[in-house]
Amino acid sequence: MISKKLKEEISRPSAIRAMFEKGAQLKKVYGEDGVFDFSLGNPNLPPPEKVNQTIISLSRENRPLMHGYMQNAGYEDVRQKIAEKLNESSNTKFEKGGIIITSGAAAGLNVVFKAILDEGDEVLTVAPFFVEYRAYVGNSQGKLIAVNAQPDTFLFSAEKIEQAITEKTKAIILNSPNNPSGAVYSDALLKNLADVLIKHEEKTGRAIYVVSDEPYRELIYDDTKLPVFADIFKNAITVYSFSKSLSLAGERIGYIAVSPSADDYSALNDALILCNRTLGFVNAPALFQRVIAECLNETVDTKSYKSKRDKLHSHITNLGFECFLPKGAFYLFPKSPIADDISFCNDYAVKYNILAAPGAGFGFPGYFRLAYCVSDKTIELSLPAFEKLAREFFK
Ligand SMILES: Cc1ncc(COP(=O)(O)O)c(C=O)c1O
Repeated sequence: MISKKLKEEISRPSAIRAMFEKGAQLKKVYGEDGVFDFSLGNPNLPPPEKVNQTIISLSRENRPLMHGYMQNAGYEDVRQKIAEKLNESSNTKFEKGGIIITSGAAAGLNVVFKAILDEGDEVLTVAPFFVEYRAYVGNSQGKLIAVNAQPDTFLFSAEKIEQAITEKTKAIILNSPNNPSGAVYSDALLKNLADVLIKHEEKTGRAIYVVSDEPYRELIYDDTKLPVFADIFKNAITVYSFSKSLSLAGERIGYIAVSPSADDYSALNDALILCNRTLGFVNAPALFQRVIAECLNETVDTKSYKSKRDKLHSHITNLGFECFLPKGAFYLFPKSPIADDISFCNDYAVKYNILAAPGAGFGFPGYFRLAYCVSDKTIELSLPAFEKLAREFFK
C-alpha cells in the first residue's frame, strides 16, 4: 500500500501530465510534424562540439576508479575549477569547500532544502514559479509560500516579500532568468530585497537564506545583465545546472555554490554534502563531472534560442496575444485570451495541435507557457496553427 500522502498526490489531476498524454495521442494520429509541442522545456539544441569530443576522449581513458565512488561532494579538482570559474565574474571569492556537485539543479534544490528546513519552515518564492518547487520544499517538510509578481513585467516587489515574511521563513527561492516568464531581476531590484533581509535580521536575529536557482544563467538576450546573487546577498546559496547551458538535461549534472559569507558556512557545507549522500544521489555522475570540468567556458548556441524567441513572440503578438518579451530562458508566457487558462490549453490550443502548459501549473492562472526550445521547423510549421487559434479570439 502506498503512503496516504502519495495516494492523494497521484490522484490529483495534473494539467501538464494531461497535456503530455494528449500530445502522445495526437502524435500517433498526425505524426511528429503535425503536432506543435511547446509544453515541455526539453532543450533541442545539440551540446557544444567540445562536450562530444570530451566524452569521446574520456571514455578512452582507463584510469583506476574512473567510474568509481568518490567523495560525496564530487571530485576536488572539479570543485576547484568551478569555484575559479565563478570567481572570474563575481566579487565573491567562492572556495572549493563550498561547491557541491549535484545530479542537476533538481537534486541540488532538494539537497539545499533538506539541509536547511525544519518541519513547518516556510520558503518564499515569486509566482509564476517552476512547478516542482512545491514538491521539493514539501519533501523536506517545509511549506512553499508564493508572492505574485507584477503581471506586466513579472518582477517582484520587495515590500510584498517583506509582508510575506513570518517567524517561520527560512529561505527565499528566486529563479532568474525565470521559468516560465523569462523575467530577469535587476541589480537594483535584488538590492531592495537585500535591504529588507538585512533589516529583518537586525530586528529579529533570524537570517533568511536566498536560494538562487540558475539553470538558465547563460540564456539571456538583448544585452541584459544578470547580477551575481552572491555579491548582493550575504546568505546566498546558488544552484546551477548544465541541463540548459550545455543541453545535458538527461545526464543530470549541476552544482551548489555556497557564499563564504553565509551563516553557518562550514556546518551548511557539511549538511549539504551529507544530504547529497543520504537523499540517495551519493555523488553526481563521475563521467559528467569530468566532462563539465573541461567545458566550463562552453555554451549552446544561445543566438539560436534568441531567434526562436523573436520569431514566435513577434508572430503571436502580431496576432493579438499579449506577451511580455522575455529577457532570458526559453519560454514565452502570454496572457490567455480567456480567464480559464486550463480550458484555453485543453479545449482551444489542442484543437490546432498546439500543446501549451497552463499558467495555473506555475501558480499563475490566466496565462500559458510556450517552451520554444524546439526545432525551427516546428516553430515554422506552427505559425498557421497559431493564426487559426487567434481567429477564435481576436478579429
Ligand atoms: C527553474 C528550474 N529549476 C530547476 C530545474 C531543474 O533542472 P535540472 O535538469 O538541472 O534538474 C528546471 C528544469 O527545467 C527549471 O526550469
